[in-house]
Amino acid sequence: MQCYHVCVELAHSIPFKFHMKTDTVSDSCWIRPLLPPEIFVAEATIESAHTETGLLAGLFSEEREAIARAVPRRQAEFASGRRLAHQALKQLNGLACAIPVAADRSPLWPAGIIGSITHSESVAAVAVTRVGGAWQALGIDLANIQRFEPDLARVICTPAERAAALPLPLVFSAKESLFKCLHPLTKVWMDFSDAEISLSSDSEFVAVLTKDCGHFANGTVITGRWREHAGTMCTAICLPA
Ligand SMILES: CC(C)(COP(=O)(O)OP(=O)(O)OC[C@H]1O[C@@H](n2cnc3c(N)ncnc32)[C@H](O)[C@@H]1OP(=O)(O)O)[C@@H](O)C(=O)NCCC(=O)NCCS
Repeated sequence: MQCYHVCVELAHSIPFKFHMKTDTVSDSCWIRPLLPPEIFVAEATIESAHTETGLLAGLFSEEREAIARAVPRRQAEFASGRRLAHQALKQLNGLACAIPVAADRSPLWPAGIIGSITHSESVAAVAVTRVGGAWQALGIDLANIQRFEPDLARVICTPAERAAALPLPLVFSAKESLFKCLHPLTKVWMDFSDAEISLSSDSEFVAVLTKDCGHFANGTVITGRWREHAGTMCTAICLPA
C-alpha cells in the first residue's frame, strides 16, 4: 500500500482514517484552501516507489486495466488519484466504487457525483461533491512551477495575458481547471486561446470565454481561485449550478 500523507477536508467533520487537517490553510494542503467547505477534498503526496503490494494496490479491476500498460510514474499518479477518489466517495456515499476512464480521459464519476482530479509530480488531489447542490461542475489543477519555460507563453497565453505579464503557470493551470470543469458538461475540446485569464485579486482569477463552448457563449465569465504553494501553482473552479 502506498504511504499517504493526506490532507482531508471534512465536509461534516466525518472521521477519516488518515491524518486529518482541520485548519483552513496548512503547509500540507494545496487545493483545500481554494474550495468552499461543502466540497470534499482529499490530497496526498504520491509515493512512486514500488511496494510489496504494488503501485496499483486498492484499485478496482477496470481501473487496473485502464492503466496496466502505462509507465510506473503514470501508474503511481493515476493510482494515487483513484485511491483518494475512493476515499472521497466512501465519505460521501458510504461506498467506494470504480471510477473508470472515459474515452476522452475524463474520470467517470458515479451517478449523483461531480468531481475533478489532478496530480503534479509529487502530489495528487481530488475534489468531489454531490449533484443537486450549489455547484454544477468542478475543476482543479496543480502545476509544477519549475516546469515552465518562458517560450511556452506563445502557446498558452493570449496577447492580452502576455501584455498583463501574468505568471505563465497561473494562466496554464487556470485554463486546465477551466477545461476540466467545462469539458464534462460540453464535451467540447478547448484550445488555450479559447479563454482569457485575468486576475481579480491576489487569490482570484477570472476566465472569459473567447468563443462559444457548447451552451456556454462567447464572453461567459467564470471565476476561480488560485494560490502558489511549495513550488506548485494550485487553481480551482466551482461552477455555480
Ligand atoms: C486533460 C488535461 C486538462 C489534464 O491536465 P494535466 O495538467 O495534463 O494533468 P492533471 O494531472 O492536472 O490532470 C489529469 C486528470 O485530469 C482528468 N481529466 C482528463 N481528461 C479530462 C477531461 N476531458 N475532462 C475532465 N477531466 C479530465 C483526469 O482525472 C486526469 O487524471 P487521471 O488520468 O489520473 O484520472 C490536459 O492534459 C489537456 O489535455 N489539456 C488540453 C486542453 C486544455 O486544457 N485547453 C485549455 C482550455 S482554455
